[in-house]
Amino acid sequence: MATTDMERPGGGRLGTRMWRALTAVPRSWNRFWRRVSIYMPKRLYARSLLIVITPMILLQSVVAFVFMERHWQTVTVRLSQAVTRDIAGIIDLLDTFPQPESYAQIIRIAQERMSLKIDLLPAEPLPPPGPKPFFSILDQALSSEIRKQINRPFWLDTVGNSNIVEVRVQLDDKVLRVFVRRSQAYASNTHIFLLWMVGTSLVLLMIAIPFLRNQIRPILQLTEAAESFGKGRPMPVNFRPRGAEEVRRAGFAFIQMRERIERQIEQRTAMLTGVSHDLRTILTRFKLQLALSGSKVDTEALSQDVDDMQSMLEAYLAFARGEASEDPGRFDLATYLDRLGDEAKLRKRKLKITLVGEPEVHVRPNAFNRLLQNVVGNAFRYAKEVEVKAVHDRGMLVVMVDDNGPGIPEEKREEVFKPFYRLDEARNLDSTGTGLGLAVARDIARSHGGDIKLSDSPLGGLRAMIRVPA
Ligand SMILES: Nc1ncnc2c1ncn2[C@@H]1O[C@H](COP(=O)(O)OP(=O)(O)OP(=O)(O)O)[C@@H](O)[C@H]1O
Ligand SMILES: [Mg+2]
Repeated sequence: MATTDMERPGGGRLGTRMWRALTAVPRSWNRFWRRVSIYMPKRLYARSLLIVITPMILLQSVVAFVFMERHWQTVTVRLSQAVTRDIAGIIDLLDTFPQPESYAQIIRIAQERMSLKIDLLPAEPLPPPGPKPFFSILDQALSSEIRKQINRPFWLDTVGNSNIVEVRVQLDDKVLRVFVRRSQAYASNTHIFLLWMVGTSLVLLMIAIPFLRNQIRPILQLTEAAESFGKGRPMPVNFRPRGAEEVRRAGFAFIQMRERIERQIEQRTAMLTGVSHDLRTILTRFKLQLALSGSKVDTEALSQDVDDMQSMLEAYLAFARGEASEDPGRFDLATYLDRLGDEAKLRKRKLKITLVGEPEVHVRPNAFNRLLQNVVGNAFRYAKEVEVKAVHDRGMLVVMVDDNGPGIPEEKREEVFKPFYRLDEARNLDSTGTGLGLAVARDIARSHGGDIKLSDSPLGGLRAMIRVPA
């Protein structure tokens, strides 16, 4: 239902516009975030590193920028001012005492009091201006100060000799040449500041990385343990909840959950075994009494039923004893499919086999063999033409079993997974089945962390799709 203007905060045209603007902000923000998150690292470790590093780099860049901009520039300008003042002082001295005899005194004063090495050159034109450095606040600061304080033609070389800056000033009848130590005019220890900054960040990172790794390892171990439990594999031997409080709590909760599930499975198995066993004892007595009762005609059907019941019970007992205790191992699909070909020949069925990907899978071999055998066995039993396609890719095994038999109507496709459930046609066709095959198969698939799905096959019968992480 559309909201009317009255319902929106503010109401009226202006309200509508404001409302639209307000809802547009989170929407475009979401869109932006979705686009950014494609490029974000997916793993927790990389993400946490990013969380540590990004603010650090940001903070340091801001600090460095402000420092450069303010402090460095100000200090350099002040130093340049002082040097220029000294040079201006020397020029004043030269103007005041123009006699050549006083030059030696002036040079001495400059050397001793101002640390400036000066000499006087004959009046000749200044050299052409050298190439300006691309980025040098020293050059800029000195030039502008000389222009301001001395206001005579000058020539400046801040590039040539790296430790010394050369200044030449055109006087009335001579040229004054001054060599200034670069450090005198320039805040030259800035790189030490940057070095400290980068150095401390590296130390910080070196401390942060192992710390982060230690924090993340328990999460990864918990993930691994949960994954292997989900796939029905034993838990890693060294799994022990560790790390931060929350992670440890999750670990203990997982262990409790696992123990509860295992206890339930055990109880179920024990109960089924008990029931089957008790019933079997009674059935044996039943059979004995039937055999002893003499009259053949009446008891034939009854003893057939008892036989069926017994084989059903045997099957269930075998199931209940279960594969739960089996250890995971290697199962070779190629060998299995070869044997299937032989079986098809023996039973005079048409069989087509396809195998894509690595033939070795990591499952509980006996259980998995039973799973495949139950599904393929159904196809052999209820159809003449069978196709088996196995695709093993990126840790996932998909086995598709197609047949051209009668198929299973859509509304029965969940029912047939129930123990002892058989369709009527199957019962007429062949009386030996117990209706446990698919129940067992699904149980095994699920205990591996997978499942079985039934659908229509392009061959006209049933398609059973088994997906198992392997
Ligand atoms: N490929 C198939 N085509 C047609 N119907 C099928 C097929 N597979 C199974 N069914 C139907 O699903 C029912 C249940 O199958 P399930 O394998 O559990 O038992 P079953 O084959 O009858 O006995 P068993 O315990 O010996 O396997 C079957 O009785 C049959 O009616
Ligand atoms: Mg079957």
